Amino acid sequence: MAHTSVLLNEALEHLALKEGDTVVDGTLGSAGHALLIAQAIGKSGVLIGIDHDEEALARSKVQLKGAASSIHLQQGNFADLSQILSSVSIDSIDKLFLDLGLNSEQLENSNRGFSFKKNEPLKMTFSSDSTKHPFTAETIVNEWEEGSIEDILRGYGEERFARSIAQKIVEHRKESPIKTTDDLVAVVKEAVPAWYRFKKIHPATKTFQALRIAVNDEIQSLKRGLLDAYEHLNEGGRIVVISFHSIEDRVVKHTFHEWEKEKCGIRITKKPLIPTEEEIKDNPRSRSAKLRTFEKHESSKQKEEE
Ligand SMILES: C[S@@+](CC[C@H](N)C(=O)[O-])C[C@H]1O[C@@H](n2cnc3c(N)ncnc32)[C@H](O)[C@@H]1O
Repeated sequence: MAHTSVLLNEALEHLALKEGDTVVDGTLGSAGHALLIAQAIGKSGVLIGIDHDEEALARSKVQLKGAASSIHLQQGNFADLSQILSSVSIDSIDKLFLDLGLNSEQLENSNRGFSFKKNEPLKMTFSSDSTKHPFTAETIVNEWEEGSIEDILRGYGEERFARSIAQKIVEHRKESPIKTTDDLVAVVKEAVPAWYRFKKIHPATKTFQALRIAVNDEIQSLKRGLLDAYEHLNEGGRIVVISFHSIEDRVVKHTFHEWEKEKCGIRITKKPLIPTEEEIKDNPRSRSAKLRTFEKHESSKQKEEE
Protein backbone atom coordinates (compact mmCIF):
# COMPACT_ATOMS: atom_id res chain seq x y z
CA MET A 1 0.00 0.00 0.00
CA ALA A 2 1.39 3.44 -0.93
CA HIS A 3 2.25 5.78 1.92
CA THR A 4 -0.62 8.11 2.91
CA SER A 5 0.70 11.41 4.26
CA VAL A 6 -0.56 12.28 7.74
CA LEU A 7 -2.01 15.69 8.77
CA LEU A 8 -1.22 16.95 5.28
CA ASN A 9 -3.36 20.12 5.25
CA GLU A 10 -2.55 20.94 8.86
CA ALA A 11 1.19 20.65 8.21
CA LEU A 12 0.94 22.88 5.16
CA GLU A 13 -1.08 25.47 7.05
CA HIS A 14 1.39 25.48 9.96
CA LEU A 15 4.40 25.82 7.69
CA ALA A 16 2.81 29.10 6.46
CA LEU A 17 4.77 28.81 3.21
CA LYS A 18 5.53 31.78 0.99
CA GLU A 19 6.85 31.98 -2.55
CA GLY A 20 10.62 31.96 -2.42
CA ASP A 21 10.95 30.20 0.97
CA THR A 22 13.89 27.89 1.66
CA VAL A 23 12.47 24.76 3.27
CA VAL A 24 14.00 21.57 4.66
CA ASP A 25 11.90 18.42 4.62
CA GLY A 26 14.06 16.24 6.88
CA THR A 27 11.94 13.10 6.42
CA LEU A 28 11.06 12.92 2.73
CA GLY A 29 9.51 9.42 2.75
CA SER A 30 7.49 9.33 -0.47
CA ALA A 31 7.52 13.14 -0.77
CA GLY A 32 3.79 13.45 -0.11
CA HIS A 33 4.28 16.58 1.99
CA ALA A 34 7.33 17.68 -0.02
CA LEU A 35 5.43 17.88 -3.30
CA LEU A 36 2.91 20.30 -1.82
CA ILE A 37 5.73 22.26 -0.18
CA ALA A 38 7.50 22.57 -3.54
CA GLN A 39 4.28 23.78 -5.18
CA ALA A 40 3.71 26.39 -2.48
CA ILE A 41 7.21 27.89 -2.56
CA GLY A 42 7.22 28.09 -6.35
CA LYS A 43 9.99 28.73 -8.84
CA SER A 44 11.97 31.01 -6.57
CA GLY A 45 11.77 28.60 -3.61
CA VAL A 46 14.39 26.07 -2.52
CA LEU A 47 13.55 22.63 -1.11
CA ILE A 48 16.18 20.50 0.61
CA GLY A 49 14.83 16.98 1.03
CA ILE A 50 16.57 14.51 3.33
CA ASP A 51 16.00 10.84 4.05
CA HIS A 52 18.17 8.11 5.50
CA ASP A 53 16.60 5.63 3.15
CA GLU A 54 17.99 5.43 -0.39
CA GLU A 55 14.75 3.82 -1.60
CA ALA A 56 12.67 6.72 -0.24
CA LEU A 57 14.94 9.18 -2.03
CA ALA A 58 14.51 7.32 -5.32
CA ARG A 59 10.70 7.43 -4.94
CA SER A 60 10.81 11.11 -4.01
CA LYS A 61 12.91 11.94 -7.05
CA VAL A 62 10.15 10.59 -9.29
CA GLN A 63 7.39 12.27 -7.28
CA LEU A 64 9.12 15.67 -7.36
CA LYS A 65 10.04 15.53 -11.04
CA GLY A 66 8.60 18.54 -12.73
CA ALA A 67 8.30 20.64 -9.55
CA ALA A 68 9.41 24.18 -10.39
CA SER A 69 11.42 25.06 -7.26
CA SER A 70 15.11 24.25 -6.90
CA ILE A 71 15.38 20.90 -5.24
CA HIS A 72 18.31 19.25 -3.46
CA LEU A 73 17.76 15.63 -2.42
CA GLN A 74 20.26 14.34 0.13
CA GLN A 75 20.73 10.90 1.66
CA GLY A 76 21.54 11.23 5.34
CA ASN A 77 20.32 11.88 8.86
CA PHE A 78 18.51 15.16 9.51
CA ALA A 79 20.58 15.30 12.71
CA ASP A 80 23.49 16.28 10.44
CA LEU A 81 21.57 19.26 9.10
CA SER A 82 24.47 21.73 9.30
CA GLN A 83 26.73 19.51 7.20
CA ILE A 84 23.96 18.76 4.73
CA LEU A 85 23.15 22.46 4.31
CA SER A 86 26.79 23.35 3.87
CA SER A 87 27.17 20.62 1.23
CA VAL A 88 24.57 22.45 -0.88
CA SER A 89 25.97 25.89 0.04
CA ILE A 90 22.90 27.01 2.00
CA ASP A 91 23.26 28.76 5.34
CA SER A 92 19.81 29.85 6.44
CA ILE A 93 16.37 28.32 6.10
CA ASP A 94 12.80 29.56 6.57
CA LYS A 95 11.14 26.30 7.58
CA LEU A 96 11.96 22.81 8.80
CA PHE A 97 9.42 20.03 8.49
CA LEU A 98 9.77 16.62 10.18
CA ASP A 99 7.27 13.77 9.85
CA LEU A 100 8.98 11.24 12.08
CA GLY A 101 9.17 7.47 12.03
CA LEU A 102 8.55 5.04 9.23
CA ASN A 103 6.94 5.24 5.84
CA SER A 104 4.51 2.51 4.76
CA GLU A 105 6.89 1.13 2.14
CA GLN A 106 9.51 0.48 4.83
CA LEU A 107 6.93 -1.31 6.94
CA GLU A 108 5.47 -3.35 4.12
CA ASN A 109 8.07 -3.87 1.40
CA SER A 110 11.58 -3.18 2.70
CA ASN A 111 12.43 -6.71 3.94
CA ARG A 112 14.20 -5.04 6.88
CA GLY A 113 12.09 -6.45 9.70
CA PHE A 114 10.08 -3.39 10.79
CA SER A 115 6.84 -5.34 11.04
CA PHE A 116 6.02 -8.21 13.34
CA LYS A 117 3.43 -9.30 10.75
CA LYS A 118 6.04 -10.50 8.25
CA ASN A 119 8.91 -12.92 8.66
CA GLU A 120 11.98 -10.88 7.67
CA PRO A 121 15.62 -10.43 8.73
CA LEU A 122 15.90 -8.49 11.98
CA LYS A 123 17.56 -5.31 10.68
CA MET A 124 15.26 -2.28 11.32
CA THR A 125 17.71 0.20 9.78
CA PHE A 126 16.27 3.27 8.07
CA SER A 127 19.08 3.08 5.53
CA SER A 128 18.63 0.30 2.97
CA ASP A 129 22.41 0.14 2.49
CA SER A 130 23.71 -2.32 5.08
CA THR A 131 27.33 -1.26 4.47
CA LYS A 132 26.41 2.22 5.75
CA HIS A 133 24.50 0.85 8.70
CA PRO A 134 25.93 -2.47 9.90
CA PHE A 135 24.42 -2.03 13.39
CA THR A 136 21.03 -3.79 13.41
CA ALA A 137 18.33 -5.08 15.76
CA GLU A 138 19.95 -8.50 15.36
CA THR A 139 23.12 -7.07 16.93
CA ILE A 140 21.16 -5.78 19.93
CA VAL A 141 19.24 -8.95 20.69
CA ASN A 142 22.21 -11.29 20.16
CA GLU A 143 25.09 -9.25 21.58
CA TRP A 144 23.91 -6.71 24.14
CA GLU A 145 23.86 -7.44 27.84
CA GLU A 146 20.52 -8.35 29.35
CA GLY A 147 20.35 -5.14 31.42
CA SER A 148 20.90 -2.92 28.37
CA ILE A 149 18.20 -4.73 26.41
CA GLU A 150 15.84 -4.30 29.36
CA ASP A 151 16.70 -0.58 29.53
CA ILE A 152 15.83 0.13 25.90
CA LEU A 153 12.63 -1.94 26.04
CA ARG A 154 11.54 0.10 29.05
CA GLY A 155 12.93 3.48 27.94
CA TYR A 156 12.04 3.45 24.24
CA GLY A 157 9.12 1.02 24.28
CA GLU A 158 7.57 1.76 27.67
CA GLU A 159 7.22 -2.03 27.79
CA ARG A 160 5.94 -3.18 31.17
CA PHE A 161 7.39 -6.69 30.65
CA ALA A 162 10.83 -5.35 29.70
CA ARG A 163 12.63 -7.47 32.28
CA SER A 164 11.04 -10.81 31.39
CA ILE A 165 11.38 -10.17 27.63
CA ALA A 166 15.09 -9.29 28.04
CA GLN A 167 15.59 -12.41 30.19
CA LYS A 168 13.87 -14.62 27.62
CA ILE A 169 15.92 -13.09 24.76
CA VAL A 170 19.18 -13.93 26.55
CA GLU A 171 17.97 -17.42 27.48
CA HIS A 172 16.90 -18.08 23.90
CA ARG A 173 20.07 -16.85 22.21
CA LYS A 174 22.16 -19.31 24.24
CA GLU A 175 20.38 -22.07 22.31
CA SER A 176 20.27 -20.37 18.90
CA PRO A 177 20.66 -16.80 17.60
CA ILE A 178 17.55 -14.64 17.09
CA LYS A 179 17.73 -13.75 13.42
CA THR A 180 14.25 -13.02 12.13
CA THR A 181 11.12 -11.15 13.16
CA ASP A 182 9.34 -14.48 13.68
CA ASP A 183 12.12 -15.62 16.04
CA LEU A 184 11.70 -12.43 18.08
CA VAL A 185 7.90 -12.55 18.14
CA ALA A 186 8.06 -16.15 19.44
CA VAL A 187 10.42 -15.10 22.25
CA VAL A 188 8.22 -12.14 23.25
CA LYS A 189 5.11 -14.34 23.30
CA GLU A 190 6.88 -16.82 25.55
CA ALA A 191 8.00 -14.05 27.91
CA VAL A 192 4.66 -12.30 28.54
CA PRO A 193 1.53 -13.52 30.37
CA ALA A 194 -1.35 -15.01 28.37
CA TRP A 195 -3.68 -12.01 28.86
CA TYR A 196 -1.04 -9.74 27.29
CA ARG A 197 -0.80 -12.00 24.25
CA PHE A 198 -4.50 -11.63 23.53
CA LYS A 199 -4.81 -7.86 23.85
CA LYS A 200 -5.91 -5.73 20.87
CA ILE A 201 -2.34 -4.48 20.49
CA HIS A 202 0.14 -7.13 19.34
CA PRO A 203 2.37 -8.19 22.29
CA ALA A 204 5.57 -7.40 20.31
CA THR A 205 4.51 -3.85 19.31
CA LYS A 206 6.53 -2.10 22.00
CA THR A 207 9.55 -4.38 21.65
CA PHE A 208 9.70 -3.61 17.91
CA GLN A 209 9.29 0.14 18.53
CA ALA A 210 12.07 0.14 21.13
CA LEU A 211 14.53 -1.77 18.94
CA ARG A 212 13.87 0.48 15.94
CA ILE A 213 14.44 3.62 18.01
CA ALA A 214 17.70 2.22 19.40
CA VAL A 215 19.00 0.96 16.04
CA ASN A 216 18.49 4.35 14.40
CA ASP A 217 19.34 6.42 17.49
CA GLU A 218 16.08 8.26 16.84
CA ILE A 219 15.82 10.28 20.04
CA GLN A 220 19.34 11.73 19.85
CA SER A 221 18.82 12.45 16.13
CA LEU A 222 15.66 14.36 16.91
CA LYS A 223 17.34 16.42 19.64
CA ARG A 224 20.34 17.21 17.43
CA GLY A 225 18.20 17.95 14.37
CA LEU A 226 16.02 20.43 16.28
CA LEU A 227 19.03 22.28 17.70
CA ASP A 228 20.78 22.43 14.33
CA ALA A 229 17.62 23.66 12.63
CA TYR A 230 17.16 26.41 15.20
CA GLU A 231 20.69 27.67 14.49
CA HIS A 232 20.00 27.93 10.77
CA LEU A 233 16.44 29.24 11.05
CA ASN A 234 15.74 32.80 9.92
CA GLU A 235 13.89 35.20 12.22
CA GLY A 236 10.17 34.39 11.92
CA GLY A 237 11.01 30.92 10.57
CA ARG A 238 9.09 27.85 11.68
CA ILE A 239 9.74 24.28 12.74
CA VAL A 240 6.82 21.86 12.31
CA VAL A 241 7.11 18.33 13.67
CA ILE A 242 4.72 15.38 13.47
CA SER A 243 5.55 12.64 15.98
CA PHE A 244 4.00 9.22 16.45
CA HIS A 245 4.78 8.16 19.98
CA SER A 246 5.02 9.77 23.37
CA ILE A 247 8.82 9.54 23.69
CA GLU A 248 9.50 11.65 20.61
CA ASP A 249 6.57 13.96 21.30
CA ARG A 250 8.00 14.68 24.75
CA VAL A 251 11.31 15.75 23.18
CA VAL A 252 9.55 18.15 20.79
CA LYS A 253 7.25 19.51 23.49
CA HIS A 254 10.09 20.03 25.95
CA THR A 255 12.43 21.64 23.37
CA PHE A 256 9.79 24.13 22.15
CA HIS A 257 8.79 24.93 25.71
CA GLU A 258 12.40 25.62 26.75
CA TRP A 259 12.97 27.84 23.71
CA GLU A 260 9.87 29.84 24.54
CA LYS A 261 11.02 30.24 28.16
CA GLU A 262 14.39 31.46 26.91
CA LYS A 263 12.57 34.00 24.70
CA CYS A 264 13.82 32.44 21.50
CA GLY A 265 10.35 32.46 19.96
CA ILE A 266 6.81 31.23 20.48
CA ARG A 267 4.96 27.96 20.41
CA ILE A 268 2.24 28.22 17.77
CA THR A 269 0.69 25.06 19.21
CA LYS A 270 0.26 25.18 22.98
CA LYS A 271 -1.56 21.86 22.59
CA PRO A 272 -0.60 19.52 19.75
CA LEU A 273 -2.80 19.18 16.68
CA ILE A 274 -4.17 15.67 16.20
CA PRO A 275 -5.93 14.03 13.23
CA THR A 276 -9.70 14.22 12.84
CA GLU A 277 -11.79 11.08 13.38
CA GLU A 278 -12.32 10.98 9.64
CA GLU A 279 -8.57 10.94 8.94
CA ILE A 280 -8.07 8.17 11.51
CA LYS A 281 -10.84 6.15 9.86
CA ASP A 282 -9.28 6.58 6.40
CA ASN A 283 -5.70 6.07 7.62
CA PRO A 284 -5.46 4.20 10.95
CA ARG A 285 -1.66 4.78 10.98
CA SER A 286 -2.42 8.44 11.73
CA ARG A 287 -4.13 7.70 15.06
CA SER A 288 -1.15 8.51 17.28
CA ALA A 289 0.09 11.54 15.29
CA LYS A 290 0.74 14.85 17.07
CA LEU A 291 1.81 18.03 15.32
CA ARG A 292 3.68 20.82 17.08
CA THR A 293 4.95 24.13 15.68
CA PHE A 294 7.49 26.66 16.88
CA GLU A 295 8.24 30.10 15.41
CA LYS A 296 11.62 31.72 15.98
CA HIS A 297 11.72 35.30 17.31
CA GLU A 298 15.06 36.18 18.76
CA SER A 299 14.34 39.90 18.54
CA SER A 300 12.38 39.86 21.82
CA LYS A 301 15.35 38.28 23.59
CA GLN A 302 17.75 40.84 22.13
CA LYS A 303 15.48 43.74 23.15
CA GLU A 304 15.43 42.44 26.71
CA GLU A 305 19.23 42.15 26.77
CA GLU A 306 19.73 45.76 25.57
C1 LIG B 1 6.65 9.07 8.02
S1 LIG B 1 7.85 9.01 6.75
C2 LIG B 1 7.67 10.55 5.93
C3 LIG B 1 6.54 10.56 4.94
C4 LIG B 1 6.46 11.80 4.10
N1 LIG B 1 6.18 12.98 4.88
C5 LIG B 1 5.41 11.65 3.01
O1 LIG B 1 4.38 12.32 3.09
O2 LIG B 1 5.63 10.83 2.11
C6 LIG B 1 9.35 9.23 7.62
C7 LIG B 1 10.61 9.11 6.76
O3 LIG B 1 11.66 9.70 7.48
C8 LIG B 1 12.84 8.95 7.36
N2 LIG B 1 13.61 9.23 8.58
C9 LIG B 1 13.29 8.96 9.86
N3 LIG B 1 14.22 9.44 10.69
C10 LIG B 1 15.15 10.04 9.91
C11 LIG B 1 16.35 10.74 10.20
N4 LIG B 1 16.80 10.91 11.45
N5 LIG B 1 17.04 11.28 9.16
C12 LIG B 1 16.62 11.11 7.89
N6 LIG B 1 15.49 10.44 7.56
C13 LIG B 1 14.77 9.91 8.56
C14 LIG B 1 12.37 7.52 7.20
O4 LIG B 1 13.34 6.79 6.47
C15 LIG B 1 11.06 7.69 6.43
O5 LIG B 1 11.25 7.57 5.05
